[in-house]
This record gives sequence, C-alpha cells and structure tokens, in this order.
Amino acid sequence: MDMGTFPITLDPTHLDGLPADHLLRLFLGHFGPGFAVSTSFQRDGLVIIDMALRIDPATRIFTLDTGRLPQETYEIMEAVRAKYGARIELVYPDTAELESMTTRFGPDLFRHSVAQRKLCCQIRKVRPMERKLAELDAYAVGLRRGQSGERAETPKAQLIDGKWKLAPIADWTSQQVEDYLTANDVPRHPLESRGYPSIGCAPCTRPVAPGEHERAGRWWWEAEGGKECGLHVTPEGKMKRELDVLLDEVLAPRR
Ligand code: ADX
Ligand code: SF4
Repeated sequence: MDMGTFPITLDPTHLDGLPADHLLRLFLGHFGPGFAVSTSFQRDGLVIIDMALRIDPATRIFTLDTGRLPQETYEIMEAVRAKYGARIELVYPDTAELESMTTRFGPDLFRHSVAQRKLCCQIRKVRPMERKLAELDAYAVGLRRGQSGERAETPKAQLIDGKWKLAPIADWTSQQVEDYLTANDVPRHPLESRGYPSIGCAPCTRPVAPGEHERAGRWWWEAEGGKECGLHVTPEGKMKRELDVLLDEVLAPRR
C-alpha cells in the first residue's frame, strides 16, 4: 500500500486543495491508528468509510451511540461490518451524566426548550466525542458545504485544540455523493429510501417532504437553534450561557 508522503508543511490552505482520497491517504499514512473516521452512517459518512477502507482496511471507524438512535442505524452498522469486515468502535455517553440529566430534566428534555435540547446533545454526543478525541490525533467527518449555511465555509482540514479535523468531501455536491455510492455499491442507511435525507437520533429526526431542505427533518420543531448539535458549531452568546447553567446543574453532583 502506497501511503504517499505527508506534506512538509501542514498548511490547511494546501490541504484544502487536495481531493478526498488523497487527503485520507496522507492522514492514514501519517497517523495510522491515531486517525479515525467519525460517522453516523449517513450517505456522506459512508463515502468516507468506503474510501478509507479501500486505502487501508485497518482504518479505525467510530460512532457516537447516543442511546436514542433509530434501529435502522444499527442495521446499517451491521451491513458495514458484514461487507467490509470492519470493526466499528461504539462510543457511549457517561452513565452518571445521563442519569443526572434525565432525572433532573426528563428523558425527552429536548422537547422543552432549545437549551435543553442542546444539553441533551452535549451529554449524549459532544462530551463523548471529546472523550474519544483524547485518544486520537486526527479524524474525518462527513460535513459538506452544501448541507447548510452554517457549513458553507467548512475547510477540508483544520487543527482544533491540537487535533486535525478533516472534512474530505466538504466540496462535494449531493449528486457526487450519490454517484460515488452507486458506482461503488456502498450499503445505504435503510431510512434514506423512506424520505430521510439527514438522520440523527430517532426522536429528533423526521422524513422531509419533496422540495424541503435536506436538514429540514432535524429538530424540525425548533424555530431557532441552527439545526446543530454542537459537534461542529459551538453554541455562542446567550445560548452558550443558558447551556452552561444547565450543564452545571447536571454535572455539579459529580464535581
Ligand atoms: S449533526 O451535528 O447534525 O448531528 P450530521 O448528522 O449532519 O451532524 O453529521 C455530520 C457529521 O458529523 C457526520 O458525517 C459525522 O462525521 C459526524 N457525526 C454526526 N453524528 C455522529 C455520530 N453519532 N457519531 C459519530 N459521528 C457523527
Ligand atoms: Fe438528544 Fe435529540 Fe440531540 Fe439525540 S439529537 S442527543 S436525542 S437532543
């Protein structure tokens, strides 16, 4: 396997000009098991999984199992395990944090307010992600610039708190994703064909109507909140302050 040579200058501008497979090859070659694909098994993530496993069958893959995922997400995990012989690392929320949050605010707190929804995403996704990243040097995500206004400026490579975050297909269109999946006979998430272009947790995802935006089915009841969980866009200003107060309440007994 030719892993290529890592550029001498890790210049994000230079890296931004590289095609997805080249970028993955470079980072896999350089970081090996210090690199992993972070995926929720949607179309974009499946492109990256397929591409990375073709380059290196030992590529690490992890997913944040929030505890509220639809059954179909476990089915696509099994399909990926079967097709590629891949080992998928499941990352869970901290049990004590979950118990504290759901006892204080209820299991379906995401319906109460945007701040409580973001709190749930922090406990079930963002904090487990931070824990996982502690064991990695670099990771790849399936973000695309075309997914939303918030993601329009997504760089292909950025160094955040000492970790490389790659978005190898940031510049791909939805059609390019579709073409890659078809050409390479990649397994598909079962909910896609039932009208779900974007898939997260079961209670926070619904199908979209024809012509609706691809992320319209995520947290559809919220008028604001940016349709982001905090993994890629950090809450700011008033929302951050509200969230911090709630987080303190949940984490206080443990501090
Ligand atoms: S989200 O922030 O709204 O949930 P989205 O579903 O668009 O994100 O996914 C964007 C990228 O975030 C995915 O391609 C994947 O890399 C990462 N991601 C989202 N959810 C998870 C998850 N549960 N586990 C691991 N990575 C995830
Ligand atoms: Fe909680 Fe919904 Fe966020 Fe999943 S998407 S972590 S259920 S608020």
